[in-house]
Amino acid sequence: MEKIVIKGTGSFLPERIIPNSYFEKIVETSNEWIFSRTGIQERRMVLPGQALSDIATPACQQALEMAGLSPDDLDLIIVGTSTPDMPTPSTGCMLQYRLGAKNAVAFDISAACPAFIYGLAIAQKFMQDGSYRHALIVGGEIISPRIDYQDRATCVLFGDGVGAVVLGLSDGKGDGEILATEIQSDGNLWGLLNVPGGGSLHPPSIPMVEAGLHYIKMKGNEIFKHAVRSMSESVRKALEKSGVSIHQIDWFIPHQANIRIMEAVAKQLDIPKKKVIVTVHKYGNTSAATIPTALDEAVRAGQIQRGDLVLVSSFGAGLTWGAALFRF
Ligand code: ACO
Repeated sequence: MEKIVIKGTGSFLPERIIPNSYFEKIVETSNEWIFSRTGIQERRMVLPGQALSDIATPACQQALEMAGLSPDDLDLIIVGTSTPDMPTPSTGCMLQYRLGAKNAVAFDISAACPAFIYGLAIAQKFMQDGSYRHALIVGGEIISPRIDYQDRATCVLFGDGVGAVVLGLSDGKGDGEILATEIQSDGNLWGLLNVPGGGSLHPPSIPMVEAGLHYIKMKGNEIFKHAVRSMSESVRKALEKSGVSIHQIDWFIPHQANIRIMEAVAKQLDIPKKKVIVTVHKYGNTSAATIPTALDEAVRAGQIQRGDLVLVSSFGAGLTWGAALFRF
């Protein structure tokens, strides 16, 4: 089987910064509550009119540049998102058009926050027999329009952003490799986190919008418990598949939803704090974008280096969860 490596990374976080103090003016909350319960200090928000493909295009171009590849080299584009540009066509096809990736097949996957890990797992299957040589995997969200700014329990948590990686087959020169991917879901728990309106169940209509069904609904403290359990479980499975011990890991990038969840998972897995990459204080929960944006930032800062062993894990609506282990 072919060895698959991450050849390039890229990301884009909108310029507009929304600090915790913004929410003190619109709901009954405080910077102190938000920071102590979540670790979030600020998040980014797009400008009105910006679509996911607008912010994803520069992130993908950066990833291609780092990989030393052109859009023509891409065989596959997978976009993990719950907030595509429009219901159809896919944001994958929009990106194919905008990048000029005329040789690729492009599609989206809906798997909430772990959608980036789902994308890695799918691409691995396409690439391991060598028939697809280069893939672009994107995790991105413009989540701000899905937020009810009167619901203090959700409005303080989320932010917009996008990250991307370019995968390629190993040329045998470096030692990078995707060692394991692990994805799972439990649809019985769909009611813990959803956006009920806008699909076929509650199609777009004035009454649907008036009832606020187009906003995120979440049972936060129930999700919390599942998140810690499922992320730890999928990490253990990924380690088992690859025969790697947790103590060999150089870096852990957990889904950046809440610092308390991240610390609880790291503690359960016996990963020291210094190995855990944290961006939640700056960007909040950007859903499918948290892992690829944190990865790109750590790579560009020189923190994650070629040859490092990196573990990522995430959970989200579905419920869905997963982990991936790779040597960068
Ligand atoms: N400011 C002040 N008080 C608040 C706020 C706020 N922004 N939000 C909730 N509260 C109140 C609640 O109303 C409640 O008050 P009560 O005790 O009077 O009823 C109290 O704080 C405690 O509420 P809890 O929900 O129990 O608070 P908790 O410590 O669990 O923190 C939080 C809430 C931050 C949502 C946490 O449960 C969490 O992070 N859960 C995971 C959610 C998550 O990660 N979701 C996304 C996963 S999938 C994806 O990423 C798309």
